[in-house]
Amino acid sequence: MSPREADELTIGELAERSGVPATALRFYERQGLLRSRRTPGNQRRYGHAAVGKVAFIRASRNAGVPVAMIGEVLGILPEGAAPTREFWIRAARCWSTHLDDRLSRLRRAREVFGGCASCGCLAFDRCALMKAGTGEPAGQGVDDGM
Ligand code: FES
Repeated sequence: MSPREADELTIGELAERSGVPATALRFYERQGLLRSRRTPGNQRRYGHAAVGKVAFIRASRNAGVPVAMIGEVLGILPEGAAPTREFWIRAARCWSTHLDDRLSRLRRAREVFGGCASCGCLAFDRCALMKAGTGEPAGQGVDDGM
């Protein structure tokens, strides 16, 4: 077969089909979420499963799932396989717990923030947002899981 397999996509084609910019596709690849092969001219070529994987990644990211968690789940897929409907349902169920936890932390932070909004001190040693009262160790934000 020629250097370009019949069912392979260039990064531009994958971007066009998925609606995800090439910069984001390169980012996904650097993060290990997506794989490509390189041509002798060092151009990326994606297999037929890439469109489904990008859809899975995009939906997951839009739901607020951290990249690392997406990578772990995609790591279960056999090489060259696209996520199936059943795969997505199982992953979404798993991530519901994570998202519920994030929501709880955000609600707690919102309550504390309400007090801070009328205080204004931003003192590291006194500000409630910087203490463990939010359920987070001091120095960590409520959105560190992203
Ligand atoms: S700003 Fe004063 S406690 Fe947070």
